[in-house]
Amino acid sequence: MNEPHPPALDDAQLADSVIRAGADPFGLFDEWFADAKAAEINDPNAMALATATADAAPSVRMVLLKGHGRHAIAGGGFTFFTNAESRKGGHIRANMQAALLFHWKSLRRQIRIEGPLTEVTPEAADAYFHSRPFKSQVGSAASDQSRPLPDRQTYLDRVQEIWGAHERTGKVPRPPHWTGFTLSPRRIEFWIDRENRLHDRREFIRASAESAWSDTLLYP
Ligand SMILES: Cc1cc2nc3c(=O)[nH]c(=O)nc-3n(C[C@H](O)[C@H](O)[C@H](O)COP(=O)(O)O)c2cc1C
Repeated sequence: MNEPHPPALDDAQLADSVIRAGADPFGLFDEWFADAKAAEINDPNAMALATATADAAPSVRMVLLKGHGRHAIAGGGFTFFTNAESRKGGHIRANMQAALLFHWKSLRRQIRIEGPLTEVTPEAADAYFHSRPFKSQVGSAASDQSRPLPDRQTYLDRVQEIWGAHERTGKVPRPPHWTGFTLSPRRIEFWIDRENRLHDRREFIRASAESAWSDTLLYP
């Protein structure tokens, strides 16, 4: 039943935007990411990665953020690693741009990031690949990611073969198609839940990696 007189909005609900105007979006990302690391039980660095085919059909999946910040590439960026021969890899080859989405449920916050991609250097891909545990290196090297697998045993046999071949050195050669991509943001949007759905939302945009950011408050 509707209340005849809704309760008055309190001061907290009427307070101004909590996402600072004129903030540096990389700095703000770092603050929110630190909060997420303290609050989320699993993978605070998990993010949805949206790509699209050359004819603009979108698709989305989760990946892990493995590097970010003002110095990731010129103008700053956000890096993930994957198999470039996967479905997403095909999209990226055809259309070198993407969107990233973080949703930290327990913090009730969302960050959306959009922009062009560049592939990391082979040296950077090697360094990250070999920083992973041996078993992860084996799992990645054995996977023809996104391609049909006749049965699970076929994958397990490959895992065993690669494991046996490299167990002694504890290091699997990085498959050349296993690489990383860095998104250079042109748009970063911060969203935070506020009471009564009076949410707070601010976008930061720039025309190029060299341009200054400008920001605007958006209706939620
Ligand atoms: C939490 C989470 C993290 C993941 N991280 C990665 C990752 O960093 N790289 C990756 O290639 N796949 C990752 N995956 C698997 C992808 O979501 C996806 O299944 C795989 O990359 C194949 O996607 P594609 O067929 O669109 O290329 C992750 C999945 C989850 C649920």
